[in-house]
Amino acid sequence: MEEHIACSSEFAGVNIISSWCFLIGLLVTLKHLISLSKWIFATFLRSQIDLIRTYGSWAMVTGATDGIGKAMAHRLAHRGLNIILVSRSSKRLQTVATELQAHHPHILVKAIQMDFSGDIAEGLRQIAAATRELDLGILINNVGITYPGAMFFDQVEEKVWRKILKVNVEGTTRVTRAVVAGMMERRRGAIVNIGSGASVVIPSHPLYSIYAASKAYVDQLSRSLHVEYKQYGIHVQCQVPLYVATKMVSKVACIEKDSFFIPTPEAYAKAAVRKIGHGPRCTPYWAHSIQWFFAGLAPDPLLDAWRFSIAMRRWKGIQ
Ligand SMILES: NC(=O)c1ccc[n+]([C@@H]2O[C@H](COP(=O)([O-])OP(=O)(O)OC[C@H]3O[C@@H](n4cnc5c(N)ncnc54)[C@H](OP(=O)(O)O)[C@@H]3O)[C@@H](O)[C@H]2O)c1
Repeated sequence: MEEHIACSSEFAGVNIISSWCFLIGLLVTLKHLISLSKWIFATFLRSQIDLIRTYGSWAMVTGATDGIGKAMAHRLAHRGLNIILVSRSSKRLQTVATELQAHHPHILVKAIQMDFSGDIAEGLRQIAAATRELDLGILINNVGITYPGAMFFDQVEEKVWRKILKVNVEGTTRVTRAVVAGMMERRRGAIVNIGSGASVVIPSHPLYSIYAASKAYVDQLSRSLHVEYKQYGIHVQCQVPLYVATKMVSKVACIEKDSFFIPTPEAYAKAAVRKIGHGPRCTPYWAHSIQWFFAGLAPDPLLDAWRFSIAMRRWKGIQ
């Protein structure tokens, strides 16, 4: 009899534990289902913000003669915005301006020649002159450079790392400062800073450490400015691309064409423009979000070892 009572109370205990396990499992599944539905809605279904009405009729894109910047300029023009292109080569600027005008004859296009690794103050004077009377609604701080190849920190020449910091950190900061006062006066605007998965999605980016650190600056600057300037109707956002098939990626990672996880700049820009105004930080392209999700599940030491082995292969390739 006693044995029977002990057995049934043990059985009841097991039952309670399995009921709790079931309940916790159900709640966890429900949480993931809610997150998945939110992601599907935000990525594919949410209606687009009317960029002109919400922020203004002009958009300025830095690093606009190639890759992501050029594609963003085209996409914004497609949405009806007038475009200011900022980049270092006047010949390429002219080519992109002509292309934009040919594809979108109803918009206005201005071009500003500015070398972010050179005289930034002169470039800023030109930006101030060109934007004085304009309803500048959107700034895309896209310009960014990285190493010529995988390198240990102590191998990076001083002029190379100084240039990376000047373009990625100083350039982004100073162009933002140049436009934010006007946006505050108009009490509207969107500032999109292009960060990188190198500083957000993976825990380390060995052999590209100064580039990754410069992008961590962009990320944190954006998040803090998002909070500071919300009250003025200015939406600051850090967009975090993973690999996009551009010249930069072909140079750094030997990726020559697009694939499932590596969109063309045009496909990337289409997603990126849709995300303007939605949240302080995002990775706009849907397949990149999947990579980010799985990276989040992996332990940091594993990701560190994986990135280090890739970087070492590249480093050995150029020794
Ligand atoms: N592609 C990716 O997979 C990836 C991933 C994460 C983050 N990102 C970030 O996305 C942004 C764009 O990258 P991307 O791959 O599109 O690069 P990209 O193809 O190399 O294009 C860079 C653009 O910036 C311009 N530029 C370069 N140096 C400049 C300088 N000193 N002054 C003025 N303009 C300059 C280039 O002009 P020229 O035509 O004169 O060279 C070009 O228009 C960067 O901030 C990058 O860090 C890219």
